[in-house]
Amino acid sequence: MRNIKLPAHIAFIMDGNGRWAKRRFRPRAYGHKMGVQNMTKICSHAFKLGIPIVTVYALSTENLSRPQDELDELFDLIRLYFGKKREKLTELQVKINILGDISVLPEDVQQDILAVTEETAHYGEGLLNICINYGARQEIVRAVNTAVSYGRFADEASFKELLSTAGIPDPDLIVRTGGEVRLSNFLLYQAAYAELYFSKKMWPAFGRRDLERAIANYSARDRRYGNIGRK
Ligand code: IPE
Ligand code: IPE
Ligand code: MG
Repeated sequence: MRNIKLPAHIAFIMDGNGRWAKRRFRPRAYGHKMGVQNMTKICSHAFKLGIPIVTVYALSTENLSRPQDELDELFDLIRLYFGKKREKLTELQVKINILGDISVLPEDVQQDILAVTEETAHYGEGLLNICINYGARQEIVRAVNTAVSYGRFADEASFKELLSTAGIPDPDLIVRTGGEVRLSNFLLYQAAYAELYFSKKMWPAFGRRDLERAIANYSARDRRYGNIGRK
């Protein structure tokens, strides 16, 4: 990928696991299993290309209203990837950071997640944010309440630091798979000037070449930030 302007922070809305499985006459849980495998593959490729920050939307706050059997399967996958298969995450050699409220997860899973974030805290340059029970509106309301509790008016610079992404630059590129054209409560504040890219591919089928295509598309865009552009 020469002569390409890479995003410094890429975020993925990994949608379409259930439909991908259904088309193959397999249970939704199989789609989630293949979805997590693809997550490690695509994140690894993004870091290899030289993107320093990757964020993945793994579970939204609203996803918690799904049927309990699907939630159990999703929680089991989280348990697996922060437990027995933790090397799939740690071998990325990047810091692992969680965005969202993991207190809804079983206690042992929370402990495993904490252990992985601690183990990788000293790792090199890269950062992988995994959003679990994350909701942008909830995040913004919490930040407002924190600002109120401080008894001071916030400005943009101080407000940013009250969000769960404190200290992390905003995403440059948000890629959503699965064909829907919406943000589904993802990084609403931070996405103010993100470039959006929508792919019709279901997440488990989104490959390395698809990622490169998304980045090339991003690279050709003129980010004007309200100004008049580079012509
Ligand atoms: C995305 O895939 C993963 C999660 C939201 C946990 P879905 O489970 O939403 O898959 P579809 O959109 O139903 O195909
Ligand atoms: C968005 O997908 C959340 C994640 C990918 C984790 P959803 O499948 O929950 O989004 P909606 O319901 O189609 O908006
Ligand atoms: Mg979906």
